[in-house]
Amino acid sequence: MTKLQVTPRNGEIVLSERVGRISVSATLAVMMEAEKLRAEGADIVDFGAGEPDFPTPDNVKEAAIRAIRENFSKYTAAGGTLEARKAIANRHAADFSTSYAPSEVIATAGGKQAIFNMISCLINPGDEVLLPVPYWVTFRDVINYAGGRANLLETREEENFDLTAEMVKNALTPRTRLVIVNSPSNPSGAVIAAREFERILEVTAGHGAVLLTDECYCQFLYEGRPFSVAALPGAKDHVVVVGSLSKTYAMTGWRLGFALAPAPLVSAMVKLQSHSTSNPSSIAQKAAIEALTGPQDSVQTMLKEYRRRRDFVVEKLNGIRGVSCTIPRGAFYAYPNVGAFLSSGVSGERGRAGNGAPSTNELAKKLLREAGVAVVPGEAFGTEEHFRISYATSLETLAEGLRRLQGFFSGQSH
Ligand SMILES: Cc1ncc(COP(=O)(O)O)c(C=O)c1O
Repeated sequence: MTKLQVTPRNGEIVLSERVGRISVSATLAVMMEAEKLRAEGADIVDFGAGEPDFPTPDNVKEAAIRAIRENFSKYTAAGGTLEARKAIANRHAADFSTSYAPSEVIATAGGKQAIFNMISCLINPGDEVLLPVPYWVTFRDVINYAGGRANLLETREEENFDLTAEMVKNALTPRTRLVIVNSPSNPSGAVIAAREFERILEVTAGHGAVLLTDECYCQFLYEGRPFSVAALPGAKDHVVVVGSLSKTYAMTGWRLGFALAPAPLVSAMVKLQSHSTSNPSSIAQKAAIEALTGPQDSVQTMLKEYRRRRDFVVEKLNGIRGVSCTIPRGAFYAYPNVGAFLSSGVSGERGRAGNGAPSTNELAKKLLREAGVAVVPGEAFGTEEHFRISYATSLETLAEGLRRLQGFFSGQSH
């Protein structure tokens, strides 16, 4: 029998240095732990998962069933079929008045793969990527994997985690090649206003860097109209849009995302994709075409429900002594500050040394074990005092989880 290549001394498998630079997604880690407890019979309220609780709309399901029946089950072009790429470009044009040609579109197995491809194709070892904090976990890991350096840019909770062009300008360095923005933000729900977005683009493009705008939550906005920076005159040369059908159409498991980018970058991403996953599922592409070109009312139905849940969750969280929560203006996450329950006492008079958990990681574990509520600790998103609560779950579940949170926190020292 052939043996795996192992180190001669301790017999351990030697992993690449590259993979050693990334960690298991903290969101998945919480889901796995909650799953384990559930399998042992525990009653867990899960606020960890970042996915809609709504089913995929029926017209989308039907399109996929049709595709299977019609044997649309072969390889497609590695970057997605022409029909799928046109549907993606046309939807973006209809929503935001952009104009992307099919050669400027790649269909991917989820937004994650678009981000992975894009960063792999753009970042050389040592290049810097400006990443606002709190950030969505995957950005940082993919930058590390590519050998880049994440230059973390703190936003302030007192200012609703707003990112401004001034902050971006002051943080750029001669090595900055990429600036990442995610509006509405996972995890904070912060939204960049159109005028500020324009200034951020000016500053980034003026510096010769690329602006990656992650629009995965672009339709889930509680104030104002959805906006894409890619619609601004001259933006297309400097902007990469990453999008996904996962949240907009409740299709997380289907794995269909995309990027809109200058054609040479798209070609490089297709080349990379052709040697890794190749085309996204042919069936999912047909489903995506229906989602993007068919009726859009399911999006508004979800948004209406998310708004109700947001209002409920934020009010309840702010009603818990020691907890404070900014109002998310988009996406479906609340990002409450629980620093008062940490022993480190990171935020001024809050938290008293000696009491409480040493970190939100530990506090989240305690919460899961003692109250049966799964949340994602803020460390995963680069802040020390927060939890991320996904409110993409029913009002009944939210009410039960918040009742448990209230009970848990009233029993903690702060
Ligand atoms: C900010 C952000 N971008 C991208 C994604 C990628 O989603 P998917 O790979 O399911 O399209 C997610 C998923 O949680 C996200 O929160």
